[in-house]
Amino acid sequence: MFKSIGTFGIVLIMITALIGVAIGFGIMGVNHPLPWIMLIVVAAIPFIHNKLADKRYLEWKDEYSVGVEAMDNDHKKLINLINQLQTSVDYYTGKEFEEKALDELVDYTKTHFDREEQLLEDNAYEDLDAHKLQHKAFIDKINNAVDQYKNNADVTIIDTLKFLREWLINHINGTDKKYSETLNAKGIH
Ligand SMILES: [Fe+2]
Ligand SMILES: [Fe+2]
Repeated sequence: MFKSIGTFGIVLIMITALIGVAIGFGIMGVNHPLPWIMLIVVAAIPFIHNKLADKRYLEWKDEYSVGVEAMDNDHKKLINLINQLQTSVDYYTGKEFEEKALDELVDYTKTHFDREEQLLEDNAYEDLDAHKLQHKAFIDKINNAVDQYKNNADVTIIDTLKFLREWLINHINGTDKKYSETLNAKGIH
């Protein structure tokens, strides 16, 4: 219930602010600029709110490509699963669905890491050990976050999502992209 307070809260703020604007017009009159400025600010609230909400959802960009289609497809699916989890949080689909979305994301992350590591091993990628360490550190952290979430869901699911979004994009754009040259040179695209 409390997770949908976002939209409800915005509506409440707007109603309160509009009452303030009406009082402002009543006291200062229509020729005073202040109530008009307040009115413009109130009108901008939904726009600002939507912009902030958009930031919570990831969108695939061509610049994220690592030049290997199978890995790009895995990364796209991970982005979709993160967005699915964000949707379950935003629309309060229930703890059961939320947990299912989180488990699905963690499972697919592990599947992807295994697949990526195998591909790199098969192609004698020289930085494989360092890459594996990053994956392992992430899995440890995410397992820990899931445990925390299951004990205190409302507090940690938002932090977990933020961490997932930032880590994934940074990892794809940094560490993963480093293998593009090696694999592409071996004819893997
Ligand atoms: Fe990776
Ligand atoms: Fe990856």
